[in-house]
Amino acid sequence: MRLTDCHNFADFRELARRRLPGPIFNYIDGAADDEVTYRRNTQSFNDVDLVPNILRGVEKIDMSVTVMGQKLALPFYCSPTALQRLFHHDGELAVARAATKHGTMFGVSSLGTTSLEDVRKIGDGPQAYQFYFHKDRGLNKAMMRRAKASGVNVMMLTVDSITGGNRERDKRTGFSIPFKLNARGIAQFVMKPMWGINYITHPAFSLPQLDEHVKMAPGAMSIGGYFTEMLDPAMNWKDVEEMVDEWGGHFCLKGVMSVEDAKKAQKIGCTGVILSNHGGRQLDGSRTAFDQLAAVVDAVGSKIDVIMDGGVQRGTHVLKALSMGAKAVGMGRAYLFPLAAAGQPGVERAIELMKTEIERDMKLMGTRNVSELSRKNLIIRH
Ligand SMILES: Cc1cc2nc3c(=O)[nH]c(=O)nc-3n(C[C@H](O)[C@H](O)[C@H](O)COP(=O)(O)O)c2cc1C
Repeated sequence: MRLTDCHNFADFRELARRRLPGPIFNYIDGAADDEVTYRRNTQSFNDVDLVPNILRGVEKIDMSVTVMGQKLALPFYCSPTALQRLFHHDGELAVARAATKHGTMFGVSSLGTTSLEDVRKIGDGPQAYQFYFHKDRGLNKAMMRRAKASGVNVMMLTVDSITGGNRERDKRTGFSIPFKLNARGIAQFVMKPMWGINYITHPAFSLPQLDEHVKMAPGAMSIGGYFTEMLDPAMNWKDVEEMVDEWGGHFCLKGVMSVEDAKKAQKIGCTGVILSNHGGRQLDGSRTAFDQLAAVVDAVGSKIDVIMDGGVQRGTHVLKALSMGAKAVGMGRAYLFPLAAAGQPGVERAIELMKTEIERDMKLMGTRNVSELSRKNLIIRH
């Protein structure tokens, strides 16, 4: 199986499965508890049907959007995800190059394996920084100053990870950072020697957003330890309001689900909210972003940008979210599997395929630009 054999999400996932050691594949593919929310994220798009219009003169399609002050050539972006150099040795650089080439935004995670500064050198395309809130307020301020200095355009504070999700696949393989694999996990790495060769022959694994502040080493701190010891479960609206003021630019909360929280976010000065359940990796049984979209758009959509992520695998998923009122849509695994499958060319191909699907689907829907999409194009199944 080669990259040119990949035509959709399932194909990229399969190629990634063949290339990655089992524990790493399962870290990406897995989710919390029974993974009900993970599955539901994609299924929820099937509860709504598209209603096309015809004979509208659709020879030219403009799918660009403006979200949190950023003009994106595409209505979807690469959501911030951790540890990308474990999935492919080019990691964040591959994703940022592919996103920049296509004129869209990408997020760099606090748990990213490439520094904000190195990613920024790729170009001046819109870059978001995904932030975790630490007990140490001085550390939060220092990290924000660093992000500002490196030219980050949008601050995304993740608010759905006050504690780590119960990822049972990782428990079975022993996946953790630093690695603490069990015998079965080690055997799965031995079966994928190319991954190991690439891992050893490229720059050493590191977490440059945190390295200055957290010493992660066997016997010292693990990512699990970072979550329980350094992040602040007492974080509240007042803390975030201060952070929004301190940042003084586009700021959104990632992981909002309730209407009430979206309203509070708007009140404390956020310019956007991202409806997300972290790809089903945190609270299993949580509502999906797509199911919750209409209610949140109705409540705050005229004042701030409402964005969603979770389960997006097709151009029609993006069109349904935009028709419901989302300003843009984030993708996670839909670019991570392509990254794992083939590095930058993989991500480029995935973005290109998604763009082609959206263009075709917009023509079939009879819409020339995103502003022509509305709930008139949707019927909810009961
Ligand atoms: C492997 C993996 C790592 C992730 N790491 C982070 C992270 O570091 N910070 C964060 O806010 N979200 C993280 N996410 C969540 C994504 O940003 C996004 O919300 C989610 O992947 C969307 O669901 P999807 O994968 O179905 O598209 C991660 C998701 C995956 C799959």
